[in-house]
Amino acid sequence: MKKDIYILGIESSCDETSVAVVKNGREVLSNVIASQIDIHRLYGGVVPEIASRNHVKNIDVVLQESLQQAGKTLEDIDAIAVTYGAGLLGALIVGVSFAKSLSYATGKPLLAINHIQGHIAANYIAHPTLKPPFMCLLVSGGHTALLHVKDYHTREKIGSTTDDSVGECFDKVARECGLCYPGGPEVEKQAKMGTACITFVKKPHEKRKDFNFSYSGLKTAVINYIHNAKQRNEAISVPDICASFQKEALEQLVFKAVQACVKYNEKTLIIAGGVSANQTLRSMCEKAAKPYGIHVYYPPLKLCTDNAAMIASQGYYSFIHGKDIADITLTPSSTIPLE
Ligand code: KG4
Ligand code: ZN
Repeated sequence: MKKDIYILGIESSCDETSVAVVKNGREVLSNVIASQIDIHRLYGGVVPEIASRNHVKNIDVVLQESLQQAGKTLEDIDAIAVTYGAGLLGALIVGVSFAKSLSYATGKPLLAINHIQGHIAANYIAHPTLKPPFMCLLVSGGHTALLHVKDYHTREKIGSTTDDSVGECFDKVARECGLCYPGGPEVEKQAKMGTACITFVKKPHEKRKDFNFSYSGLKTAVINYIHNAKQRNEAISVPDICASFQKEALEQLVFKAVQACVKYNEKTLIIAGGVSANQTLRSMCEKAAKPYGIHVYYPPLKLCTDNAAMIASQGYYSFIHGKDIADITLTPSSTIPLE
């Protein structure tokens, strides 16, 4: 009988300290997340040094809790998978150093996982029969891209943002509207109460023939709209601004994602990264993809934003395919190319 494989995942690339135990890449036995959102909210965004200090404070407690919830000990673990980038360098150093020490002390193999691969793998957990190849719309705080995922380790970049990421743009618009950090979920909440009655930038994506995105024009248009209204002492409707901004921000994602599936003849589109939590993005994608017979997958809310289960899931495929093998010399990377 085939032996079950248990991977311990460790994630500390931004403001969530997370440790998970995942069985055979798809079954989550534990996924403990110590979120620092309440701390960083006081500053309106993530403060890297504070994030690192809190990872140091939390990581061992999170490991113990994760093993206990999974009903496992380090002895039962086959390999340790850690996010080595991309992310905040100080924050990554905490997770990577911790994983290296655990690997050294226990003699268990160490796997260096790309955070983006982790976001993609969140979909493997959510959809047990999902396998590459597929098209991936990657929408996180750091990235906005279309990736043609060929197998569990290879992907081709079809297009990406030429300036800001969509998540960054949500956060910036939220801040201008006086909403708290993290901005994406707050903008989504406001948008539900408003009407998309303002045009900021007229469908710029329809003019472009490539699969790249652009968000700086939209961001500047929203900021100018708010500043001009304030200078003229005119009232603004935050729900209407959010609904209008969200519609324009998501339209280019959906339009390009479906076009990419058609061009590359892919019938499976997955959404990965923090912005995949957005309900309107999900329903817009499903609606636009349906006429082409394209099936859309996305993770449940808990797996959309940063967590260690997704790192352990990707770690399983790295382990069984002999990829991403690391050792005590592993150093974190604040940036990693998308392909
Ligand atoms: O993937 P993630 O957790 O971190 C990175 O790897 O970057 O993504 C965080 C981003 C933030 O910009 C956050 O505002 C955005 O995801 N986000 C959302 C929603 N939930 C999180 N954006 C739009 N709508 C949401 N519901
Ligand atoms: Zn992330």
